[in-house]
Amino acid sequence: MGRAKAVAVIGAGYVGLTLSTFLASRGVKTICVEKDEVKAEKICRGTPPIYEEGLEELLRKTLSEHTLEVRTRLDRAEEDVDIFFITVGTPVGPDRVPDLSQVRGAAVDVGDALARRRGGKPLVVLKSTVPPLTTWEVVRPLIEERSGRSCGEGFHLCFNPEFLREGSALADTANPDRIIIGAEQKEAAYVLQDFYRELYAPRAIPTIITNTVNAELTKLATNAFLAMKISFINLIARICERVEGGDVVEVARGLGLDPRIGGHFLRAGIGFGGSCLPKDLRALAGSAEKLGLDASLLRATLELNDSQRLSVVEMAEAALGGIGGKRIALLGLAFKPGTDDVRESPAVAIARELSSRGAEVHVHDPKALESGRQVLGDSVAYHSNLDSCLTEADAAIIATEWKEYATLSPSKVKALMRRPLIIDGRRVLDPPVWCAEGFEYYAVGLSHRRSSRCG
Ligand code: UGA
Repeated sequence: MGRAKAVAVIGAGYVGLTLSTFLASRGVKTICVEKDEVKAEKICRGTPPIYEEGLEELLRKTLSEHTLEVRTRLDRAEEDVDIFFITVGTPVGPDRVPDLSQVRGAAVDVGDALARRRGGKPLVVLKSTVPPLTTWEVVRPLIEERSGRSCGEGFHLCFNPEFLREGSALADTANPDRIIIGAEQKEAAYVLQDFYRELYAPRAIPTIITNTVNAELTKLATNAFLAMKISFINLIARICERVEGGDVVEVARGLGLDPRIGGHFLRAGIGFGGSCLPKDLRALAGSAEKLGLDASLLRATLELNDSQRLSVVEMAEAALGGIGGKRIALLGLAFKPGTDDVRESPAVAIARELSSRGAEVHVHDPKALESGRQVLGDSVAYHSNLDSCLTEADAAIIATEWKEYATLSPSKVKALMRRPLIIDGRRVLDPPVWCAEGFEYYAVGLSHRRSSRCG
């Protein structure tokens, strides 16, 4: 088939909208299908409902060049479409297992589209992160039932996990480090491989072709492993805090130089958040336990992460001798820099904990104030201006490693705060510089004894 004549991308979340925009920017005729009319309307006007660097500009360009079209339904599109990408969300349901209702809905829609279509053998690619066996045991039967076609005869089916990170979604989509294609019929995998080969030419992206369950597990295992690395370094951080002279940054540097370990995802801090790592860990643990396995390795990773969030609150309590009535500036709400996403953000958990302990919480974030307000309501005060957030604060806590915080000037901050006390939850500041300015400086993974000495 070579480069597809047209693709449909169902679901315009982080993955779907980024993929649609990227494909359209490469000249692939792309139909982005988003059921939520308000969201679809925004996208049509060139305003992404999420913040991602470069996305708005590229979206506007592709809309104006008519390579991207936005619809709320798949109808009438099916005749032209060579590849249907399913990129809908799999949020955590009330029972804490992934809710597959959107995946089922998209499979039904694609099945119906195939039923209306004459001939052809389009490819359906599931990209949403799902528990093992979902592609073959949930998605395939639904498409077959609705379309009256059988997989391999009337359509192809693949599971193709997405590894993009929020905050660098477009760059990651344009430069994937690997492509994993899961298919039960090799022909299906080759169609997708050819599509990607042309899309990324002349770069040859390392590609693994496997079956659907292995591809599904590769995605879950990747996120679970990354999460374990973070919880591991956070445990080392706790040890460092309690031994004279300990500093996790130094330890992580040495650890990461071992090529068997690697230096990525060894940044100690207030823990991991976002819509993926916690959810995928729980999903993998749930799958393991369903199979009668002991998933305590994964459960411990989650538990350590939950308590890690409290570490900076405890530091504030100890340093201030109680935080009731104290004004605390919380710098950052997003779960990581470069996004306005606050889903499972450790910073949000910290804001709640500080408030529940009676602190007067003032928050700043360059992008996530609005999304933060939706979850924290009026329990905290919001500042779009960093200086006003820091003014008269008894302590400042860095919760997201935005560039703005890493480049703060100690003398300026000191002049604003009531008490020069800073708690670096992300290790973005240089301790000697802040200590030299007379700050009481505390940080995740830095010996308490050393911290107080330098204060
Ligand atoms: C993660 C994966 O990195 C992507 O490969 C994957 O595609 C995505 O989930 C997904 O499944 O959709 P993302 O959640 O966007 O991406 O963000 P990460 O960069 O993985 O960061 C997750 C959390 O871990 C953040 O809260 C971050 O602050 C924290 N983190 C990360 C650390 O605390 N320390 C580190 O060393 C690295």
